Amino acid sequence: MTRHFLSTLDWSRAELQGLLDDARALQKHPIGRELEGKSVALLFFNPSLRTRTTFELGVHQLGGKAIVLEPGKGAWPIEFAELLDGSTPVMDGDAEEHVREVAKVLSRYVDAIAVRAFPKFQRWEDDRKDSVVQAFARHATVPVINMETITHPCQELALLMALQERLGATDGKRFTLTWTYHPRPLNTAVANSALIIAAKFGFDVTLLCPSADYLLDERYLKAAEDMCRHHGRALKITHDPKEGYLGADVVYAKSWGALPFFGRWDEEKPQREAARHFMVDAAKMAQTPNALFSHCLPVRRNVKVTDEVLDSPRAIHIDEAENRLHVQKALLRRLIAR
Ligand code: CP
Repeated sequence: MTRHFLSTLDWSRAELQGLLDDARALQKHPIGRELEGKSVALLFFNPSLRTRTTFELGVHQLGGKAIVLEPGKGAWPIEFAELLDGSTPVMDGDAEEHVREVAKVLSRYVDAIAVRAFPKFQRWEDDRKDSVVQAFARHATVPVINMETITHPCQELALLMALQERLGATDGKRFTLTWTYHPRPLNTAVANSALIIAAKFGFDVTLLCPSADYLLDERYLKAAEDMCRHHGRALKITHDPKEGYLGADVVYAKSWGALPFFGRWDEEKPQREAARHFMVDAAKMAQTPNALFSHCLPVRRNVKVTDEVLDSPRAIHIDEAENRLHVQKALLRRLIAR
């Protein structure tokens, strides 16, 4: 059966640790030939700086070829709808071809397909199905990699690699995921991912957010809770910044839109504006025992996080960004190397 990388929930801790160990070796010896003659299609439905650069560069550094495609902008727009009886709808809209053809055709050309497809931000009930990447996984005959949809598993690996570099063993350490202000409602992907990877690697996990409206999808809350319990740890939820920062070894910041307001963002706006004080600053960080700080990037300075925190020696967001290169090369070696 084809092995995909859609969510770290499908991979064991030992398998993920194997990728992280391999990534550390690749950091020391970045150039190789393991992907010689191999190719990877990178499908971007949304913008990117880090993901695109690190995947293209990573494939190149291992001797392979990456092909970037932007459906609807240089490549044909794609239809994803499939009916309950297995048929497809009449395609009389904007899409020129169906994912069934796209996934199968690309599988004849390339050795892996990587997909970035953010939610449409209209109905969470629809977006939580993760239909785009799941359709590629169903119809492709080569490995499919999630480059951020409703989770961001490559970012998870990069974060863990940065944390292990600084903390060593992570079991029993305390990880706080804090919501932080942003003028727009953003994807919950990195927040979902931060919770599940921290739980999987044995942290005591705290989710700090302005109110119950900002709780993450129950699928990820439950997964994190179960994994914490498995390790004898706990998932704590708080809306009080003072409590959220207390005792944290790691503070990870991300902004996201409140799920109950999905598609009705004007109604969420007053709550969001009232929570500007969740911005990560030196005073909050001072409540921790010298915690590490990180963020997936891009980050709006002095909106989500102050200069003082981002420019402090405890900030590891640049290391985390660098690690995207190493962990994705390790992943590609694992999935498609000769
Ligand atoms: N963190 C991350 O995925 O960055 P990009 O959106 O720039 O790819």
